[in-house]
Amino acid sequence: MSDKLIIFDTTLRDGEQSPGASMTRDEKLRIARQLERLRVDVIEAGFAASSNGDFAAVKAIADAVRESTVCSLARANDRDISRAAEALSGAARARIHTFIATSALHMEKKLRMTPEQVLEQSRQAVRFARNLCADVEFSAEDGYRSDPDFLCRVVEVAIAEGATTINIPDTVGYAIPELYGAFIRLLRERVPNSDKAIWSVHCHNDLGMAVANSLAGVKMGGARQVECTINGLGERAGNCSLEEIVMAVKTRRDYFGLDVGVDPSQIVPASRMVSQTTGFVVQPNKAVVGANAFAHASGIHQDGVLKARDTYEIMRAEDVGWAANKIVLGKLSGRNAFKQRLQELGITMESEAEINAAFARFKDLADRKSEVFDEDILALVSDESVTAEREHYRLLALSQRSEMGERPHAAVTFAIGEAEVQAEADGNGPVDASLKAIESRVQSGAELMLYSVNAITSGSTESQGEVTVRLQHGGRVVNGVGADPDIVVASAKAYLAALNKLHSNVERVAAQG
Ligand code: KIV
Ligand code: ZN
Repeated sequence: MSDKLIIFDTTLRDGEQSPGASMTRDEKLRIARQLERLRVDVIEAGFAASSNGDFAAVKAIADAVRESTVCSLARANDRDISRAAEALSGAARARIHTFIATSALHMEKKLRMTPEQVLEQSRQAVRFARNLCADVEFSAEDGYRSDPDFLCRVVEVAIAEGATTINIPDTVGYAIPELYGAFIRLLRERVPNSDKAIWSVHCHNDLGMAVANSLAGVKMGGARQVECTINGLGERAGNCSLEEIVMAVKTRRDYFGLDVGVDPSQIVPASRMVSQTTGFVVQPNKAVVGANAFAHASGIHQDGVLKARDTYEIMRAEDVGWAANKIVLGKLSGRNAFKQRLQELGITMESEAEINAAFARFKDLADRKSEVFDEDILALVSDESVTAEREHYRLLALSQRSEMGERPHAAVTFAIGEAEVQAEADGNGPVDASLKAIESRVQSGAELMLYSVNAITSGSTESQGEVTVRLQHGGRVVNGVGADPDIVVASAKAYLAALNKLHSNVERVAAQG
């Protein structure tokens, strides 16, 4: 059996299914480039048949990514599979991932199909996909809650038709490590042609055991692919977290004895990028990528670490990319240095105008903040206003007054298309007053679903505040991110960025309907 563990990242498909985490084509492309830098083996770029927007995103990623395999999800039918193949046609390495539910509950209540029909549809789907692509993954949705005898029959047929990877999801996060590991082992032992495919695990985190279950599937069950997402992003309680799986297998190589191709130094930049893009903040005590993951607060721990790091550290912060949080540029840095740094961070801008706009914002920031970190630059480019030509709403000026005991007041000047407008409002706080002032002129009627403030780069009151605003309107959910050393300004920017997304027709996709 191979001693390589394949890392299959599904941040852009299963992760994106998380309500509010949907991304635009450009956002997905930027994350895909970072996943390639992270050297994941497979990037599940989306679900091409689910919408024109997701088709375009899968296609753009397939055309751009050269090192990782690019994959699209497809239900087990010809139309979905053809769309996936079409979107993947430009890929250096392509994979079609087709799935159908196999648990009695899903077959009867959701699909309204008999087991024999599901078996037959699995056969047809894999056969059809294999005619279009040499690399075909078959997933038995709700596999863990399926009858093992039936599942063995389905998997045997899928392998016989040419599926190269067999994935057994714990779709609802119901598994327990020992039981899941034993389940995968049982299937592998009972399916006669099991050695002709790579076995994969895909665990959801409803009981907080997605990583433990996946590791049991690997260690006990012999799976050699783990499906996971950056920051554990995903519907409900999320998916198995990539950074935890990778660092567990690397740190405990003595136990797992497996190689992982991922470059761990790209983990923290990937985590930051996904969090900034989706507005899903990483909890401070999150393993590997949380702000406190390597912070030692107690005196005894600090003393120990100063004497010998391994007294309290099992991994080194710099190995997972925390060291990348270095001062890169300052106010004397020129446009070329800035452009090069963007490239090093995996950020590609389509036009010189976009670079100029981003550079102007960088200069503005460097004037107000003495140290500009990589994270500041990422925030600066994830701030929608960089792409000035696509903006309908633009913040021009903001002033606000707040005194203890007084009701805060804000005056905001912003552009709506070509027109400059001014608005004033009172509010419960200066942020509330500013957003109310904007809304009084825009009258979007959007519902504010999330407002969150985060300090970018730690340790000083000079940090930039990064604000995420999530708005819902007419069945669409969008995130706007704004960054500025002044959090009221950051909030106004984030609000306008979200309004821009609502205003634009950039399609955002919840991959699986
Ligand atoms: O959780 C699940 O079952 C899935 C499949 C579509 C692979 O995401
Ligand atoms: Zn899933």
